[in-house]
Amino acid sequence: MYHHAGFQRAFGTFPLKGDTLATALIRALDTGYRAIDTAQFYENEKDIGTVLATSRIKREDLLITTKVPVTNFSAEAFIPSVKQSLTDLQLDYIDVLLLHWPPADGNIKPSVEWLLEAKQLGLCKHVGVSNYTSAMLDELITISDEPFVCNQIEFHPLLDQSTMLAASNRTGIPLSSYCSVARGKALSQPLIVQIAQAYNRTPAQIVLKWILQKGVSVNAMSTNADNIKANFDLFDFSLSNVDMAQIDTLGQQGYRIVNKELVPWAPEWD
Ligand SMILES: NC(=O)c1ccc[n+]([C@@H]2O[C@H](COP(=O)([O-])OP(=O)(O)OC[C@H]3O[C@@H](n4cnc5c(N)ncnc54)[C@H](OP(=O)(O)O)[C@@H]3O)[C@@H](O)[C@H]2O)c1
Repeated sequence: MYHHAGFQRAFGTFPLKGDTLATALIRALDTGYRAIDTAQFYENEKDIGTVLATSRIKREDLLITTKVPVTNFSAEAFIPSVKQSLTDLQLDYIDVLLLHWPPADGNIKPSVEWLLEAKQLGLCKHVGVSNYTSAMLDELITISDEPFVCNQIEFHPLLDQSTMLAASNRTGIPLSSYCSVARGKALSQPLIVQIAQAYNRTPAQIVLKWILQKGVSVNAMSTNADNIKANFDLFDFSLSNVDMAQIDTLGQQGYRIVNKELVPWAPEWD
């Protein structure tokens, strides 16, 4: 179900809140988005819940992802925090529940067990992780036979993530992208602009299609109506193998947004 075509593109909601969030999310739902990415850390679950409660979209047509932060990785806090997410989102289950970050000590087992407990309790349908390294994915599949539906990581053309793609193939845990347009930086690359002109598409559509053709599902955030629409309209064209390979070369830039300066608790990336 997670890889149903309609769910390959999720609407990201960080750092949107309040009226800005509501306006953007309503635009996204009107455009056709049915997958929404949030997190307890974003402090916008209540705002999302309000929009969903007033929308006419059937619950089973939505795919809601939220994430538990490391600060709630304890026996006392984990499950109550997920119940609070459900209250705030006005939902009786979460579609995909992720561990937002690996713990700083690298000991993933306790949080993975609480995540699986949340699934067993029926609080979520699917479980997954975010910001895991390749070694952590290898360990994850030894902890449980439960399917983990994604590892959500920074993924865009300006960063070579071939080690993580290989780990995804090896472990069977699909990748999902964040900072998908490198917060705009990927869009002004001359190569991307040139390919966009050749396909009569926008630079963002080229970048997001490259991600999809890598076998990675997309999380993209925008507040702009035209950008929201463009980011969703990705299924009526394909990039050639030659153009895919050209875009791959941009990864040599090694442009990582979520680095230790921005997120001090980030693990040593592959
Ligand atoms: N798991 C994690 O640790 C983690 C970390 C970061 C993010 N995320 C998730 O991933 C989502 C996406 O990542 P992100 O929002 O950080 O980065 P992003 O999608 O790379 O960048 C968002 C920025 O790009 C601009 N943009 C988007 N589409 C555009 C287009 N078609 N043309 C021109 N500009 C465009 C937006 O501006 P406009 O509003 O002006 O269009 C916005 O400022 C987040 O919203 C969040 O849900 C997860």
